[in-house]
Amino acid sequence: MTEEKLTMEELSSFCKRKGIIFQAAEIYGGLSGFFDVAPFGLNIQNNIKEIYRKELIYKREDMVEQDGSIITNPRVWKASGHLDGFGDLILTTKKTRTKLRADHFVEDELKIPTDGMKAAEIQALIVKHNLKYKGEEFEEIKDFNLLFPVRIGADESKDSIAYLRGETCQSIFPNFRLITEICRKKLPYGIMQIGKAFRNEIAPRDFLFRCREFEQLEVEYFFNPKDKFDKLTEDLLNTKFQYLSAAAQDSGSDEMREATIKELVKSKAMSDIHGYWMAIMLNLAQKEMGLSYKNLRVRQHVKTELSHYSAGTFDIDYNYPNGFKEMLGMANRTNFDLKQHQEHSGSKLEYFDEATGEKFLPHVIEPSFGIGRHLLAVLLDAYTKNEKGEIVLKLPKKLAPTKASVFPLLSKPEFIALSREIYTDLIENDIISSFDKSGSIGKRYARADEIGTPYCITIDHDSLETGIITVRDRDSAKQIKVHKDKLAETIRNLINDRIEFSSLK
Ligand code: GAP
Repeated sequence: MTEEKLTMEELSSFCKRKGIIFQAAEIYGGLSGFFDVAPFGLNIQNNIKEIYRKELIYKREDMVEQDGSIITNPRVWKASGHLDGFGDLILTTKKTRTKLRADHFVEDELKIPTDGMKAAEIQALIVKHNLKYKGEEFEEIKDFNLLFPVRIGADESKDSIAYLRGETCQSIFPNFRLITEICRKKLPYGIMQIGKAFRNEIAPRDFLFRCREFEQLEVEYFFNPKDKFDKLTEDLLNTKFQYLSAAAQDSGSDEMREATIKELVKSKAMSDIHGYWMAIMLNLAQKEMGLSYKNLRVRQHVKTELSHYSAGTFDIDYNYPNGFKEMLGMANRTNFDLKQHQEHSGSKLEYFDEATGEKFLPHVIEPSFGIGRHLLAVLLDAYTKNEKGEIVLKLPKKLAPTKASVFPLLSKPEFIALSREIYTDLIENDIISSFDKSGSIGKRYARADEIGTPYCITIDHDSLETGIITVRDRDSAKQIKVHKDKLAETIRNLINDRIEFSSLK
């Protein structure tokens, strides 16, 4: 098996060919920054979400989940600061009025990082290097707000304008007090949400990496900064990762070194709760999502690039085809959002601590990632080729879109009947499976491997007589024999890592 480093174009064409992601309404030429999740991609995405739900909600008593509306009262976006300060800098050419995202343009032209650069700095670079676009000069650089306005109802006045949410968390903060009271939650506790977010990106690019409509998974973990935090275990403290500090970036370096959560918490680079969530998310990315250590790094934001709400942000970057880029962001939002929403709405959002009698606005640590960027990372890490040069998508078994594919050796009625019976039994046992009766068995294996199906099940002459069927493992290409009555149980145990394939005969 060899690892293949794909380009974004190759990955996007693989995703189309294998029914993972399509350009939205491709027959009409698509629409820049919008994608459809195709049948197999939807299964993988759902599996990703369900694993995060299991790990972050079902297994914990200090987390709940909500699903807020996508269109919200516009006052939410005034309070959150997005109406005034959520944008990118835009360049417009003088003649053809072509619009470009200023930081990306300067970064591409001068090959320098532009994260966090202000308008004046970018303008100065454009003047200094006499930068033009296809020979055209630019008008003065401008701010461009990324929120998507929508009109509500039949009223045509500006009062009817609302916005598609630019980040999902703004549906969480206004509900903080309601959820605390109704779900009887005590600090520290978190609210998670998985849902669509929309940003009118000036230049969507790199396939799912930067789109205009995407899905986020966000956790708002509320706490009292005065309280001692006791969940950061020794195991979590010892979590290791490749690290790029703000200091290194400030001195012009992008060299990573190995660090631990313990080191960053001890040196006060991050708080213990920040460190706790960083360890949790790094461990899930590797153990559950199959992302390899070498493809992940933690990058501290430099001061100039911090979002308006953040007192400190660390990203988990993934080594995408275009280098290490943000897969997940984790900001210390302090009590910025609760304070803003309390002020703007006039409704109290304070937490009352019964033990101390203290009333206060909790602080928040926010792990946040785009499902699309996560899916890209999962696919890139899973993409391998076997000795024959065929693609084998080595997805973690729990993420595979189908867990088993059932193959009747021949398309005679007796083979089909038994295969159908086995397929139905798997489905009845909640094992998502497929049925494939066309082409040689070798072709069927190759098709299943390409989409990451962990187990292929062949029904042959022997199976008709004895009920014994052949199960073939995607990763080793080895085969075992199992009686049909034991099949669903065996597959379930294999998928949940309760038994190892190599331990079976
Ligand atoms: N609530 C915090 C927040 O939204 P962000 O860094 O702007 O922070 C969080 O976004 C995550 O959402 C990113 O780490 C990324 O995975 C994803 N994301 C942001 N903008 C995106 C876009 N235009 N297309 C796809 N994913 C995006």
